[in-house]
Amino acid sequence: MPEPSRIVALAGDGIGPEIMGAARELLDRLGGFEVEEHPIGGVSIDEHGTALTADVLAACRGSDAVLLAAVGGPKWDSTDPDAPRPEQGLLGLRKGLELFANLRPVRPSAALLDASPLRRERIEGTDLLVVRELTGGIYFGDRGRRDGSAYDTCAYSADEIERIAEVAFRFARRRVTSVDKANVLETSRLWRETVERVAGRHEATELEHLLVDNAAMQLVSRPAEFDVILTENLFGDILSDEAAMLTGSIGMLPSASVGASGPGLFEPVHGSAPDIAGTGRANPLAMFGSVAMMLRYGIDRADEAAAIESAVDRALEGGLRTADLGGDATTEDATSAVLTNL
Ligand code: IPM
Ligand code: MG
Repeated sequence: MPEPSRIVALAGDGIGPEIMGAARELLDRLGGFEVEEHPIGGVSIDEHGTALTADVLAACRGSDAVLLAAVGGPKWDSTDPDAPRPEQGLLGLRKGLELFANLRPVRPSAALLDASPLRRERIEGTDLLVVRELTGGIYFGDRGRRDGSAYDTCAYSADEIERIAEVAFRFARRRVTSVDKANVLETSRLWRETVERVAGRHEATELEHLLVDNAAMQLVSRPAEFDVILTENLFGDILSDEAAMLTGSIGMLPSASVGASGPGLFEPVHGSAPDIAGTGRANPLAMFGSVAMMLRYGIDRADEAAAIESAVDRALEGGLRTADLGGDATTEDATSAVLTNL
C-alpha cells in the first residue's frame, strides 16, 4: 500500500460545505487520502478574526494538496478598507503557497451542448485552457485611499511574466493566445515583449496577441478556435467566468493553481452562491472536476482523474441536471449519479 496523500480540505462559506461534503464522498470512494478540514474565509473571520490563520497556512504548506470549495458572502461584505474580507483567505493562500499559475480548462460536455447560451454550432469542438497569472498584477499591487480618492496599482516584472508564459507554452497543443491591453497599459507592453521572447523558445507553437476587449468578443464568437489563452491576473479572472458560461453553467468549471514546487490548490471557478446555500441544490460537478485536477496535477493519479471526468460526462448523458442547468437534481442526486458511473 502506498502512503495515503495528505489533503487539506477548506470548505469555506455559502455552498462550500455542501460541495466539499460531496467531494469527500468521492475521495472516500477512491481511497488513499488522509483529509484534514480547516476554516478559511468568512467562517475563519468569525472564529479567528482573520480569513486565513498562520496555522491553516502552515497546514496547507505541509500537505500534498489543498482542496478548496468557496469563500465569501453578504455577511462579510463591507466597503470599509480595514474590515477583514473572506477573499483575503484565498489570496493569502495563493500568495503564501506561491501558486503563480492558474489553469482553467473549458471543455463543454457533449450532453450539455444545448444548455449553453450560445448555439450548439458555436460551442462544438471547444476545448481550451485559460492560463491565468495568479500572484501578481493589480490583485497584489499597492492600494489605498488618500484625500477622497482610491488607487490600485498594477505591476509585473519580466520574470513573473516569463514563468507564466512558459507554463502556457508547455500546455499548448497548437497555439497560445496572449491577452493584454498593450494599446493602453505599460504592464501589457512588457507582457507582450516578454511573451514574444518566450515564444522564441517554442517555435512549434503559434503565438497570437489579442487585446482583452477583443478577446472577450472572440471568446463568444469563435470559442472552438482557441487552444491556450494566456493572460494576467485580472483579465484572467474576468475571461474565465465568461468562458465558463460556454459550458452551460459556471457550476461546471474546475481549476488548479500550481507553483514551481510544493502543494497545489484545487478549487471550482464559481463562488459561494449564498442565494442557494443550505438548500442542498448546489451543483458539485466543478468540485468533482477540481478533485480530478488534483489527482492529475497534484498527486500523480492521472488515471483516476480521467475516470472521474468520464463518470461526470456519463452522468450528464444519463440526464443529470442540477438547478443551474435547468433541472431539479440535488447535490446528493448529482453525487450518487457520478459515483454510480465511476
Ligand atoms: C476566482 C475568484 C477570486 C478571484 C476571488 C474570490 C478573489 O473570483 O478565483 O476567480 O478574483 O481570483
Ligand atoms: Mg473569478
